[in-house]
Amino acid sequence: MKKITIGIIGAGRIGKIHADNMARLPNVEIAAISDLFAGPELEAWAAERGIGLVTKNSGDIIAHPDIDAVFICSSTDTHVPLIKQAAQAGKHIFCEKPVSMDLAQTREGVAAAAEAGVKLQIGFNRRFDHNFKRVREHVQAGTIGRPHLIKITSRDPSPPGESYIRVSGGLFMDMAIHDFDMARYLAGSEVEEVYAQGNVLVDPVFAKYGDIDTAVITLRFENGALGVIDNSRKAAYGYDQRAEVFGSKGSVAVANDYPNSAVVSCADGTYSDKPLHFFLERYNQAYVDETRLFVECLLDGGPLVVDGHDALQAESIALAAKLSLRLRRPVRLDELDELGNKE
Ligand SMILES: NC(=O)c1ccc[n+]([C@@H]2O[C@H](COP(=O)([O-])OP(=O)(O)OC[C@H]3O[C@@H](n4cnc5c(N)ncnc54)[C@H](O)[C@@H]3O)[C@@H](O)[C@H]2O)c1
Repeated sequence: MKKITIGIIGAGRIGKIHADNMARLPNVEIAAISDLFAGPELEAWAAERGIGLVTKNSGDIIAHPDIDAVFICSSTDTHVPLIKQAAQAGKHIFCEKPVSMDLAQTREGVAAAAEAGVKLQIGFNRRFDHNFKRVREHVQAGTIGRPHLIKITSRDPSPPGESYIRVSGGLFMDMAIHDFDMARYLAGSEVEEVYAQGNVLVDPVFAKYGDIDTAVITLRFENGALGVIDNSRKAAYGYDQRAEVFGSKGSVAVANDYPNSAVVSCADGTYSDKPLHFFLERYNQAYVDETRLFVECLLDGGPLVVDGHDALQAESIALAAKLSLRLRRPVRLDELDELGNKE
């Protein structure tokens, strides 16, 4: 069997998840993992998984002659330099979202991969989710006719800690960015205008960092469709991930995923368990499938499901949303260069 050999950069939350998922794929071998804080603990963890090399230096991964592709799972500010180095070394790249918080930087990273002729997949894992994929298939097949409205509800079960909020890049770039990618994916069209409203209703700590914890974002797509995304950093009843596309011939909608389908009916009401706890549980299979399809694409040369163009579009929408909130008006994506490409 033909195999792809991978090196992982960044052994935090998501890097370790990708490593464990790769162990489930027969055509993948992990040759090395690097982290700034690599030490005995990571070495023991890697040894259990048969990963031969643990290093503090990402350069060891990029220069490794056996490695075909690198997974960039380190902090966001490291993504673009690492993409450039990996591209120059001829390695294919999987990079976590967002590529960066600065459109000019992201453009440079995407261009570096294109110039080097290496594949660049972005970690928009929700495209690989069984529910959302089905919605997209129906939209593409024309089941619901011409799309008119895209509605996405995306609410976390609990807010992140202050140390994360401080460096997250804000609700639009950190959290809603997945929804911006999903909106484009479901609509089958690019976004041309964004209008965002936001507030701090969950925890005043968000205001300390100029962030918000609650938002409603409206989108206007090039194909004429309109979109509405609502976000909260805290839904008391758990992780809430739903979507609907409404069109000229009907609508297609997906509800939350639950750990079981038991519904209890009693004198005082009817209830079920809360939705799957958070993104690790809800998108478990999607994370496996994004890696599986990336590897298949490297092996058979097929097209990527999600690439650098998608990163640029989602980041542009996030930036437009930030500007819209600040300027208190709709912002077109073609205004971004003029407005400064950075918040
Ligand atoms: N797709 C998703 O659902 C998803 C989920 C979580 C995080 N992410 C993204 O993944 C990235 C990492 O997030 P996380 O939650 O795993 O963060 P984390 O802080 O848990 O882990 C990041 C790790 O990278 C290491 N690191 C930083 N710079 C490095 C370098 N130059 N070389 C090697 N290691 C380095 C840090 O020491 C840390 O262990 C972020 O960009 C984040 O936005 C995506």
